[in-house]
Amino acid sequence: MEPKVRTTRRQRQVLLLLVFLWASEAGSDPRRYSVVEEMESGSFVANVANDWGLEARELSARVGRIVLDNNKEYFQLNRETGDLLLKEKLDREEVCGSAEPCVVSFQILLENPLQFLQFELQVQDINDHSPMFLDTEMLLKISESTTPGTSFLLETAQDLDVGRNGLQNYTINPNSHFHIKIRESREGTKYPELVLDRALDREEKPEVILILTALDGGSPPRSGTALVRVLVMDINDNAPVFSQPLYEVQIPENSPIGSLVVTVSARDLDTGNNGEITYTLFHSSESIRKTFQINPTTGDLRLGAQLDYETIQDYTVRIQATDGGGLSEECTVFVQVTDLNDNPPELTMSTLTNPIPENSPDSVVAIFKIRDPDSGDNGKMLCFIQDDLPFILKPVKNFYTLLTEGALDRENRSEYNITITVTDLGSPRLKTEYNITVMISDINDNPPVFSQMVYTLYLRENNSPALHIGRVSASDRDSGTNAKVTYSLQPPEPGDLPLFSYVSINSDNGHLYALRSLDYEVTQTFQFTVRATDGGSPALSSQALVQIVVQDENDNSPFVLYPFQNGTAPCNDLVPRAAEPGYLVTKVVAVDQDSGQNSWLSYQLLKATDPGLFTVWAHNGEVHIARPISDRDAIKQRLLVLVKDNGQPPLSTAATLNVFLVDGFSEPYMKLPDEPKDEPQTDSLTIYLVISLASVSFLFLVSVILFITVHLWRRKRGAVERGNFATGGSFPGHLVNVSGTGTLSQSYQYEVCLTSGSGGDEFKFLKPITPNFSAPITQMDPEETTPFPNSIGF
Ligand SMILES: *[C@@H]1O[C@H](CO)[C@@H](O)[C@H](O)[C@H]1NC(C)=O
Ligand SMILES: *[C@@H]1O[C@H](CO)[C@@H](O)[C@H](O)[C@H]1NC(C)=O
Ligand SMILES: *[C@@H]1O[C@H](CO)[C@@H](O)[C@H](O)[C@H]1NC(C)=O
Ligand SMILES: *[C@@H]1O[C@H](CO)[C@@H](O)[C@H](O)[C@H]1NC(C)=O
Ligand SMILES: *[C@@H]1O[C@H](CO)[C@@H](O)[C@H](O)[C@H]1NC(C)=O
Repeated sequence: MEPKVRTTRRQRQVLLLLVFLWASEAGSDPRRYSVVEEMESGSFVANVANDWGLEARELSARVGRIVLDNNKEYFQLNRETGDLLLKEKLDREEVCGSAEPCVVSFQILLENPLQFLQFELQVQDINDHSPMFLDTEMLLKISESTTPGTSFLLETAQDLDVGRNGLQNYTINPNSHFHIKIRESREGTKYPELVLDRALDREEKPEVILILTALDGGSPPRSGTALVRVLVMDINDNAPVFSQPLYEVQIPENSPIGSLVVTVSARDLDTGNNGEITYTLFHSSESIRKTFQINPTTGDLRLGAQLDYETIQDYTVRIQATDGGGLSEECTVFVQVTDLNDNPPELTMSTLTNPIPENSPDSVVAIFKIRDPDSGDNGKMLCFIQDDLPFILKPVKNFYTLLTEGALDRENRSEYNITITVTDLGSPRLKTEYNITVMISDINDNPPVFSQMVYTLYLRENNSPALHIGRVSASDRDSGTNAKVTYSLQPPEPGDLPLFSYVSINSDNGHLYALRSLDYEVTQTFQFTVRATDGGSPALSSQALVQIVVQDENDNSPFVLYPFQNGTAPCNDLVPRAAEPGYLVTKVVAVDQDSGQNSWLSYQLLKATDPGLFTVWAHNGEVHIARPISDRDAIKQRLLVLVKDNGQPPLSTAATLNVFLVDGFSEPYMKLPDEPKDEPQTDSLTIYLVISLASVSFLFLVSVILFITVHLWRRKRGAVERGNFATGGSFPGHLVNVSGTGTLSQSYQYEVCLTSGSGGDEFKFLKPITPNFSAPITQMDPEETTPFPNSIGF
């Protein structure tokens, strides 16, 4: 017999066997025993001999054997004692399976006579098996949308025990979602059903783990467990949710393209496709789409273009997150662009006055405007110029003005390079430079200035006309026509030298020319004023003094004043024969119109009737007796005295003297000799003497008159005009012939006085009185008779 056959079939077989046994052993009821399963082998079941009333040795004698239906040997028979023992442990479940009651029928076969003893052994169940699930782990997939009340069939457990020891109940661990409901099939098999009490939420609890316990009815009950995993199946019941509804971001302008602005993130509680989120820009303008790019999977919002604070300061970007099931949510990203100091200040020049005239304090040179598009400190500005310039910046409303600080002087500086620097206060500072060159225009504020206040020019007399004398020059610090200097001669004051006939000036270059030949003896020096005038309007001018100094040339021969040489009234000197050597006979008086060395005269005896009788003193022209006069000496002695000046070359004049040697001043000697070449006549000596005295007297008279006249005339006029002083004089001709024809120029005045010395008559020649040319400068006292200063160059 198979241990596990269907209960019904096994029962049927056992019944058949019993029927057979009973048929063969009619009238004998089987002996019934009962054992509990799982007894140890060798356990005593019963004493068959006693039960059947047999002798113990009968069993062995009759060779009692146990016959089992299924050839199993459950028992062993002690033939000596008749005890029936368990040969092995009996397992009810093995012997009978689930059949109940479990009865094992066997016989003991006895020979001599053949006899079957019927036995039935009931094996009683003990609860030695626990309920067991075939699958200890069950998986249930339940959608979260399942409505409560829905039940789910679970696997059943098996318990080999039967009856109360068999499977009785199922339980589940306490949980919030399910309870167990036991159902029973028609066959009476109990099976568990899982009933949903409360709706599942995958997002809350994606998996529910339950422990299903199967219980039998044993005492104590045994149990078996299985794990029930309930997987909650997702449905798209959740929209994505952003971690923040509003993101506020600040990003500096000029951030490079691709810079990360912000990462938005949304969460979807659903799983799978339902939880897959795609980010997109939502309802955004074209400009936002150009400026921002969103990564659809990561939610990175990046720059697609450069930001410029000066154009747009902030953006509102809306981002939508959509899950695979089509549910969506939005968030807003508020992007604030922060300013960077990326714009240098700008300077806009409105007005620029250039050039500006000098002498114009506080005049506006430039008006300009500055601006910086940046904001905050980046947009605050400082404006300045170099501080060493005479200009100032002054803010006026929205403008800056550049003013001159004081009057400018073009002659000092005619051009200013002004750098207007504008910096902002950002970090780093940005600056803008604007360079202007301001030209200063000229105003005629500087007169021409002569290189000297007084020019002294030298000119040799007897010059050729139109001779270049020299030049004057004046400079003017102004420019252009304001600096164009023209020269002119100041007209002489009335009574002065008629200047324009003497000199001329080149008005362009200041060269001075003599117009006529000058004569030192007439004009030794003269001065005039030149004027330099610039071309400005009004014109400015200045003047300088020019002194012309005429330098002497030896152009005049000595002139013999005495004795007279024109022969009409020959001058005769009388010498007493008694005169000793050294006796002063006479004196040759000569002058030279030249000056200096040219007028230094020396005298020498050139020729004489008796050269040994007379000597002529070289330095003063005195004629002296050289030796005692003898009677043999002729009465009339003729002397030729040479007067020579010291010029280069020297000029000389010869003076003729007639000397009469007389014994006394008597009549005959006064008689003039008829024939000059004849022998000297003593009668004419007296005549000569008288004539001589008369002449000297006359000369004296003339001199005195002249002296008085000149003094009177000088008193009347402060300055003496050359050439005029001699108007009342007796010298022939006061007109100056500057062409120098050789005519004696009478520009000298002589003070002559007669002295009555013990040595006889003597002329004292007085020094020449110079004409007072220098009166305008030195204001020389007319009374003074000092010679012309040496410094002039004599
Ligand atoms: C099964 O067990 C539960 C809980 O232990 C109990 O309430 C129920 O009555 C039992 N069912 C049966 C048929 O014994
Ligand atoms: C020229 O200008 C400088 C400064 O620019 C000043 O110091 C100086 O005195 C000026 N000279 C004259 C002659 O004005
Ligand atoms: C001004 O600038 C110009 C050109 O840069 C230069 O030639 C000139 O010398 C400058 N003048 C002064 C006064 O610096
Ligand atoms: C302005 O002038 C300064 C000094 O002469 C020079 O260094 C600078 O380069 C100039 N700026 C401009 C914009 O010309
Ligand atoms: C000679 O000259 C003197 C002086 O020049 C003059 O006074 C005198 O009259 C002259 N005599 C004659 C005769 O010309």
